[in-house]
Amino acid sequence: DEAPLEKAFDATIGAGDRIEPRDWMPEKYRQTLIRQVAQHAHSEIIGMQPEGNWITRAPSLRRKAVLLAKVQDEAGHGLYLYSATETLGVSRDELTRRLIEGKQKYSSIFNYPTLTYADVGSIGWLVDGAAICNQVPLCRTSYGPYGRAMIRICKEESFHQRQGYELLMTMMRGTDEQRAMVQESVNRFWWPALMMFGPPDGDSPNTAQSMEWGIKRHTNDELRQRFVDMSVPQAEALGVTFPDPELQWNEERGSYDFGEPDWDEFWQVVKGNGPCNTQRIAHRKAAYDDGAWVREAALAFAAKARADEND
Ligand code: 3HC
Repeated sequence: DEAPLEKAFDATIGAGDRIEPRDWMPEKYRQTLIRQVAQHAHSEIIGMQPEGNWITRAPSLRRKAVLLAKVQDEAGHGLYLYSATETLGVSRDELTRRLIEGKQKYSSIFNYPTLTYADVGSIGWLVDGAAICNQVPLCRTSYGPYGRAMIRICKEESFHQRQGYELLMTMMRGTDEQRAMVQESVNRFWWPALMMFGPPDGDSPNTAQSMEWGIKRHTNDELRQRFVDMSVPQAEALGVTFPDPELQWNEERGSYDFGEPDWDEFWQVVKGNGPCNTQRIAHRKAAYDDGAWVREAALAFAAKARADEND
C-alpha cells in the first residue's frame, strides 16, 4: 500500500524539504526529473559547440584562455547533471542515446550559429545571464541532487556572464566596426535568449505540475520578465539596444513591457528545424562514436582488474 509513502512524499514537498534518491517518489515525479535534468545536461554539452567554434580564433591569448576555461566548465556542468540524473535510475549511455536519437531535447539557444567573435560575448552576457535567472531558483528545487548540482553551477555561471559582458564592454570601447559587430550580435541573440525560458505559461504543459512538486519555483514567464528587467540597464551601460520596439518601462508594473517572441520560430527550433540542429547532433554523434574505443578499453581494463582481484 503506497498511501503512507505518498503521504510522506507530499508532506516533504509541502514543507519545502528535499526528496533524496532513496526516498519513495511518484513515478511521474521521477520521469519529470529525468526529463528536465537530462535535457539540462544535454544543453550544457551541446552548448560547448557554438562557443568552442571560436577557441582557435580568439583574438588574444587571454581571450582564448578565458573561453577555454568557460567551455571546460560547461562540460563539467554536463557531467554533474548527468550524475544527478543517474541517481534517478537511468544510465548516461541511455541518456546520450536518447539525445542522439532526438528523443530528448536540449536548449533551443544552441541551435543558432556563432557568426562573429562578438557572439562569444553575447552568449556569456545574455545566454549565461538567462541561464543564471533560470538556475538560481533551481538551487531550491525539491530534488536534492539537482539542487546541490545547481549551487556549484551557479557560481561558475557568474564568471561566464561576467567574462562575456567584459568582452563586449571592451569591444564597445574600441572602433566603430567593433561597436557595430556587438550590436549586430545582440540583435541576433536577444529573442532566442528570451525563448530559453520556454513557451508562455499558457502553452506550457509541464509548468503547473512542476510548480506543485517544487521542481520549478517560478513559471517561465516570471523568469523571462526577471531576465528582461535585469538586462535592460546592462544594455544601457554597454551602449547597445535590444531589437524590440515595444520594450519600455511600465511604472505601474515596476517592470519592462516587451514584445512577443516569435513562438512559431521557437517550436520549429524545438522540433529540430533550427539553423544548426542537424549539425549539433551530428557533431555529438561523431564524438560519441570516436570515443567508443576509450569506453571499451576502460570497461575491459575494469573487468580484468576485477578478474585479477578474484584470482
Ligand atoms: N529549448 C528546448 N526545449 C524547450 C525549451 C527550450 N528553450 N523550452 C521548453 N522546451 C520544451 C520542454 O522541454 C518541453 O518539452 P518536453 O516535455 O519534451 O521536455 C516543452 O518544450 C514544453 O515546455 P515546458 O515549459 O512545459 O517544459 P518545462 O516545464 O520543462 O520548462 C524549461 C522548460 C524552463 C527549459 C525547464 O525545463 C528548465 O528550467 N530546465 C532547466 C534549465 C535548462 O535546461 N537550462 C538550459 C539553458 S542552457 C544552459 O544552462 C547552459 C548555460 O551554461 C549556458
